[in-house]
Amino acid sequence: MQITITDLNHTYPSGVQALRGVSLAINAGEDVAIVGQNGSGKTTLVKHLNGLLKPTSGVVMVGDWDTRDRAVSALAARVGYVFQNPDEQLFCRTVADEVAFGPKNLGFEAGKIEQLTAEAMSLTEIQNRREANPYDLSSTWRKMVALASVLAMDTPIVILDEPTTGQDAASVARIARVVAWLRERGKTVIAITHDIDFCAENFSRVIAMGQGRLLLDGPAAEVLGEEETLASTYVDPPQLTRLGLALRLPGVVINEAQFLQALKSDKRK
Ligand SMILES: Nc1ncnc2c1ncn2[C@@H]1O[C@H](COP(=O)(O)OP(=O)(O)O)[C@@H](O)[C@H]1O
Ligand SMILES: [Mg+2]
Repeated sequence: MQITITDLNHTYPSGVQALRGVSLAINAGEDVAIVGQNGSGKTTLVKHLNGLLKPTSGVVMVGDWDTRDRAVSALAARVGYVFQNPDEQLFCRTVADEVAFGPKNLGFEAGKIEQLTAEAMSLTEIQNRREANPYDLSSTWRKMVALASVLAMDTPIVILDEPTTGQDAASVARIARVVAWLRERGKTVIAITHDIDFCAENFSRVIAMGQGRLLLDGPAAEVLGEEETLASTYVDPPQLTRLGLALRLPGVVINEAQFLQALKSDKRK
């Protein structure tokens, strides 16, 4: 499902101009990471996709729907949004109820709800916590419950707001598997992240934001090589990318395999 954002501006009632003229298209099935300093407008931008925020001016289209004309409850069928803070999202008394809430609300039939919730719980590895109260779980597992409750809604577009913040290595790997799983199913995945290695390893397109504007948008290897522009929004390229640039290796490398390849093909040796 195509997303098209045209000249989007958002000013909060407090007067903060959080988005300034953002235009952007994301095709069905793309995997996109959004990076940029705190307060650059990343969360404000993605909250326009599920209708939690409406444009002050400009247009946001999700498929053939203009978000100004649709309720949040309707957009929930198209856009799943995993909040940065699971406490803003979770409200049921058991994990199983929480994960089943979304698909039930979308009116799916019982068999489909059963299948979607089982799959979502298995992917996030919370099957044996199904009777637990989400509030008794650690923040790592609460995050998994929040993720599962969105996966179970089977939306064509899934947004993850800072999914790896505060997560241990095992949990980050689990989140990476979920991203790959979504990609294989042709879903659009959009993740806001401060974890530049997670970004380089899991996303093919990267958008950098600063002060409510898009600074960079393109293939990960292109964007992550723009050291100066990234620095203006307090983002460091991955360590290997910086090392590659410092060594003046040919091209921009964003992972170990590319680094070794570039080192091998370096003609100056
Ligand atoms: N509910 C709100 N009311 C007023 N200002 C807000 C609100 N949410 C965010 N802002 C402001 O809007 C700007 C962008 O914030 P946000 O979209 O949360 O940035 P990011 O996700 O990149 O950290 C910041 O200046 C922030 O303080
Ligand atoms: Mg944010």
